[in-house]
Order: sequence, then C-alpha cells, then structure tokens
Amino acid sequence: MTEPDAVSGVDGAAKQAGRGANEEGEGTIRRVTEAKHHEVRQTTTRTITLEVTRYRPGQDSAPVLESFDVPLMDDWAVLDGLNYIKDQLDGTLSFRWSCRMGICGSCGMNVNGEPRLTCGTFFTEFGDGPIRIEPLKGFPIIRDLVVEVDDFLDKLRHVKPWLIREGEELPLTTEHAQTPAQLEAYKQYSMCINCMLCYSACPVYVLDPDFLGPAAIALAQRYELDSRDMGDRFDMLNLDEAVWGCTFVGECTKVCPKHVDPAEAIQRYKVTAAMRSILPWSRR
Ligand code: SF4
Ligand code: FES
Repeated sequence: MTEPDAVSGVDGAAKQAGRGANEEGEGTIRRVTEAKHHEVRQTTTRTITLEVTRYRPGQDSAPVLESFDVPLMDDWAVLDGLNYIKDQLDGTLSFRWSCRMGICGSCGMNVNGEPRLTCGTFFTEFGDGPIRIEPLKGFPIIRDLVVEVDDFLDKLRHVKPWLIREGEELPLTTEHAQTPAQLEAYKQYSMCINCMLCYSACPVYVLDPDFLGPAAIALAQRYELDSRDMGDRFDMLNLDEAVWGCTFVGECTKVCPKHVDPAEAIQRYKVTAAMRSILPWSRR
C-alpha cells in the first residue's frame, strides 16, 4: 500500500479513543432519512442498506453506526456503495481507496465482521443486506473508516525489505540472474499488497501490538528465500514477538486476497530457526 494521505484535524488522543471505543459503539445505529437530490442514473429501484461506522474526532466520544440506503446494483462492489454515499448522501464520509482493482491495498475494511478488500467484495454476496462496514479491527481509528497505518509500516521497514548485498557499492551495476526455480522459491511471498487484512484477522496482533505480524514476516521470508539476498534476518525473526508468537490460527492466510499464505511463511521460518539452533552454520 502506498502511504496514504494524512487525514486532517486528528489528534493523538482522538486516535486512541477510536481504538478503544470502536466496539462500544456497535450497538448504536443512526439512520440517514433524507438523501439529497441526486442525478445518478439508476437502472434499479431496489436498494440495500449499508451500516457504516462514523467517528469524527472532536465530535464523537465513540464510533457509531450510520445507515444509508444505496442502489442495489448487481455489478457494484461495497466500495461503489461507499462512493455513492460520499457523492450523493454525505460528502463527509471518510475512507481510503485508490485502484478499484485489488492492487493498491488501501480499501481494506471489515465487511460483516470479516476483513475484506471493499473493491473486490460485491453486493451479490449479501442478498438484500444489510451490509455492515467497519474500520479494520486492531488499528486505531483516525476518522470513520480510516485507520492508523504507522505501526504496520514500521513493522514492514523493520525486516529490511530490500536485497542486502555484501561487498558491492551503490549504484549496483552487476546483473544477478535467477533461474525460474530460484524465482519460484520466494515469488508467492512477493505478491503482498500491504492491505493489512491479515493483521486485522490475527488474534495475536489484536491482543499484542508488539507482535511483528503476518505480512512483515512473509516479507522477511520473501528476501530470506531470494538467492540474490545476502542478509540475515534471524535476530529479528527468532523472537517471541516474531515467529514464536504465532499460534498458527491461520486466519491471516484465510483472509489474504493475494494468496500470500503468511501462516506458511511463519511456520517455515520456525523450522529454519529451529535448524539453526541445532546447526548454527546453516542459514536458510
Ligand atoms: S499478506 Fe495478504 S492479507 Fe497480509 S497484507 Fe499482504 S496481501 Fe494483505
Ligand atoms: S481500491 Fe485498491 S485494492 Fe481496493
């Protein structure tokens, strides 16, 4: 995920209030009764109700749910519904998105309680609704459906997600060819789009924010398994807050939209770490 634009008017205290108060406000649903006049050409008269988290720092003591009725279009994703609300019903609704095609990783939200990419989650899955859309669980809320990403980005940076070469000066001029088999060794772990769904689904991360987490460990494996990399991330992975903190619930892998399989990456590194304790000279 590219680093998102900052959301203005948010202070630290408000962010913390959001993290703690998210679940407390779930029982309250505010309904929008008067839609503004709009000019969208509708090809359906059916509507579906979206129950959307609202949290405005400085105004709300806790997040609440607000209901909006939007056109029930068969080819609309949840993100289309949110954009309809923003364009036609309430321009103050805040949420992140960019590509609308499952690539940028910025539109992750909890949809009916599950971490999902809203651009790839279609109304047709939910019958007549309603659909509940909440911010990703486990992260402080900045505003409405926008969550804080700094901790996630810090964890990605922590594993040194770049090719480490020894004895080579920058800029690198040497080509390091790989065989298809060498590419295949790490390719799966390179498909991550940094959507944070796996963190939101991970019970360990939700309880312990110090846990390095699924995507960061999969990212470390992406480089550890790359034949061109000469680094060693053992000291940052062989920890209770890293691979040994994982209880192998496997939810990260279930929700991953790119089939990265972070749970497998973590278990594989557990084997690597265990082997190194027996054979200290072995590396990967
Ligand atoms: S591992 Fe999967 S779920 Fe986790 S951030 Fe990457 S793409 Fe998203
Ligand atoms: S908008 Fe980019 S992944 Fe959904």
